[in-house]
Amino acid sequence: MNNTITQLPIDLDSQRLPQHVALIMDGNGRWAKKRGLPRIAGHRQGVRMLKDILRCCKDWGIKALTVYAFSTENWGRPFEEVEFLMRLFERALKKELDAMHSEGVQIRFIGDLSALPQSLVQLIDLATEKTQHNQTLQFNIAVNYGGRDEIINACRQIGELVQTGKLDASDINEQLFSLKLYTTNSLEPDLLIRTSGEMRLSNFLLWQMAYTEMYFTDVLFPDFDRTAFHQALLSYQKRDRRFGTIKTSLSA
Ligand code: IPE
Ligand code: IPE
Ligand code: MG
Repeated sequence: MNNTITQLPIDLDSQRLPQHVALIMDGNGRWAKKRGLPRIAGHRQGVRMLKDILRCCKDWGIKALTVYAFSTENWGRPFEEVEFLMRLFERALKKELDAMHSEGVQIRFIGDLSALPQSLVQLIDLATEKTQHNQTLQFNIAVNYGGRDEIINACRQIGELVQTGKLDASDINEQLFSLKLYTTNSLEPDLLIRTSGEMRLSNFLLWQMAYTEMYFTDVLFPDFDRTAFHQALLSYQKRDRRFGTIKTSLSA
């Protein structure tokens, strides 16, 4: 995590910040290509930017940040890139764990972790356990995550409960279903940011984002600095979240 403590920009209203920000960190490869560098250079720079965004979230009072680091579809990339990413996750987590812990960050991983390298899984377990009682900022990292995979996995668990007579099918409701997702009892994202100009979800948090505000920017993730993050938050603060009702400004 970046060390320099930062003040909330004066044009942001601390009462109207998103509590939970979801972030699709996209554009690392294109950033590197533009500079004539290998794609992995973009991923490396991406980690640096993420550290700064995490710092802003903590200092500005955002309660949760969920980042998309590796999708279930990303296994389809060249072996060397996948291997590099797995090593990068491990190295970055090892390096930052103590600092994040001392800042009160609670670290959680979401996704099917069983397919990850053993050494990474061990480190994930350690980080999760060590930081489980921290309360300043919840930092969720989606690795081998797919929204469809998550929903199927939840269905399977519920199906098993019904099959073994522990649950009546008529008792299945949204709350129970949410509890079986990788995100369990986390807050749903208020704001989704996707960098690099793509305007799609790419299988991220499909259930959880039913009422999330979306913000798309052309900035590539390795260039997504605190100024760019600030812009996203400003845009969020202008939104009128109606949740299907007419209760806010439009009801006047
Ligand atoms: C996002 O950047 C990082 C991961 C998916 C791991 P990309 O690697 O997708 O970068 P582009 O989209 O090819 O530029
Ligand atoms: C989404 O980005 C996944 C992550 C950022 C980890 P991708 O680059 O994999 O998504 P597509 O292929 O453009 O949809
Ligand atoms: Mg991409």
